[in-house]
Amino acid sequence: MNEFACEVRNGLRKPRKELPSKYLYDELGSALFEAITVLPEYGLTRADQRVLEKCAPEIAPAFPVIAEFGSGSGRKARVIVEALAPDRYYPIDFSAAALERCRRELQGLAQIEPIEASYLNGLDRIPRDDGALLILFLGSTIGNFDPRCRGDFLRQLRSRLRPGDALLIGFDLIKPLDTMLEAYDDPCGVTASFNLNLLGRIDRELGGDFDLRAFAHEARYDHSLNRIEMHLRSRIDQRVTIRDAEFECFFRAGETIWTESSHKFDAAEIPEIARQAGFEPEAQWIDREWPFAENLWRAA
Ligand code: AVJ
Repeated sequence: MNEFACEVRNGLRKPRKELPSKYLYDELGSALFEAITVLPEYGLTRADQRVLEKCAPEIAPAFPVIAEFGSGSGRKARVIVEALAPDRYYPIDFSAAALERCRRELQGLAQIEPIEASYLNGLDRIPRDDGALLILFLGSTIGNFDPRCRGDFLRQLRSRLRPGDALLIGFDLIKPLDTMLEAYDDPCGVTASFNLNLLGRIDRELGGDFDLRAFAHEARYDHSLNRIEMHLRSRIDQRVTIRDAEFECFFRAGETIWTESSHKFDAAEIPEIARQAGFEPEAQWIDREWPFAENLWRAA
């Protein structure tokens, strides 16, 4: 049984059913996410882009090697790669299609070396010589980790770096509730499709028989944890079979599957997150139009 099948089975067996958000990004999911980034209600990607344009000229071009976690189409990294002109750029992504688009987008700006792997495994594959390494972790993907995993992940990342290396990392900030809810439940229904596609992917890749019309997209904000959660709510009592996961499960009407958390941050708490993981926070740039913080952390 492959990893996807195992994780689906484990997640749907829990008393509160859940599915890992990393599986939202198959070919259709990635296309739907690209559509989300141009929705008027989803300001995050545009804010990230604006603040990158502002900070790029302020970062010393002292990094011969740049790597990016979750490069996607490569569009986010472009302004940084242009400004810092590294010798080599390593996009790390688990989607081969994304890496190919990224290579085309950034061709000519550096030697592009795509790595199809998870973030930390990809990092281990980068050959190191004397030059400093800058890692890009943009778009507030760090917000998808729960606080425990986030700390573990950042510490594991730090342990792979050398003094002088750095991390440029984006965090989406807390904003008015309506703004946050609309961003994850747009009236056009693109985010709903993005969420429902996770069940479609299980049907296509694992021989599942989810009826997507029998589930509804839901976005909620948890005030105590400062996060938006996406869920899929079963509209009826139903049974679902997933052939390749050798698994069958039942849903009560109203029961939900938790599919993603997007944590929102207070700008002032970010330097402490850096220090706890063994980084030295060096600079922070904030977009005021859509509160979003880009941060440069140094491995001291
Ligand atoms: C790309 C993971 C940052 O959490 O805001 C967009 C994904 N989910 N709409 C986010 C997403 C729903 C996005 N990240």
